[in-house]
Amino acid sequence: MRIDIITVLPELLESPFNASILKRAIEKELVEVHFHNLRDYTDKSYNQVDDYQYGGGAGMVLMIEPIDKCITSLTSERQYDEIIYMTPDGQTLDQKMANGLSLLNNIIVLCGHYKGVDQRVRDRFITKEISIGDYVLSGGELGAAVLCDAVIRLIPGVLNNETSALTDTFQDNLLAPPVYTRPAEYKGMKVPEVLLTGDFPKIEKWREDQAQARTEKLRPDLLEE
Ligand code: ADE
Repeated sequence: MRIDIITVLPELLESPFNASILKRAIEKELVEVHFHNLRDYTDKSYNQVDDYQYGGGAGMVLMIEPIDKCITSLTSERQYDEIIYMTPDGQTLDQKMANGLSLLNNIIVLCGHYKGVDQRVRDRFITKEISIGDYVLSGGELGAAVLCDAVIRLIPGVLNNETSALTDTFQDNLLAPPVYTRPAEYKGMKVPEVLLTGDFPKIEKWREDQAQARTEKLRPDLLEE
């Protein structure tokens, strides 16, 4: 998979890709992530990429021209499956969406800033608009990092057996069961007996029951879907 991220703040985005699972996925060449600084695509003085909005009103808007130049240069090199815009009024990211995106070959992620982008960018180029939740961030970068993390860990080969995504919370619309590690007893608090039995069918059944019970208690809305 190849992900091209268009941003005015590449420095805000780089560190999540330099640690842990995302770093390993890049090193294993299971994913390529490229950052494109929008300021490299403007001819204006002071590398200007935003301007006042027509009709008046507070806040700057990212201009269409540098975004057009950047997207056009990328799409002239390869076919993209989705051109995504990170915005609080997009479709809310969930595990199902992350699963679907993890199957794609090439995606572009455009990070909004200030008051957002000129609407003509959305009308002309964008194929999917994604929000990471009902709150407003200062820009799309942190949302893009969240999206990339959720998607990249699902690419086959990124996680090993021990960290398999198949047992994650939200796979199968269930919360994950509780987990324990050594010691078996700490200050009188014991690990559930069944986990120490070595009886794997019984342990599996216990985990399923726990997942079901936790979901009913904490997120009954997931069971209605
Ligand atoms: N940009 C600003 N707020 C955002 C959000 N909640 N999700 C995605 N991108 C955003």
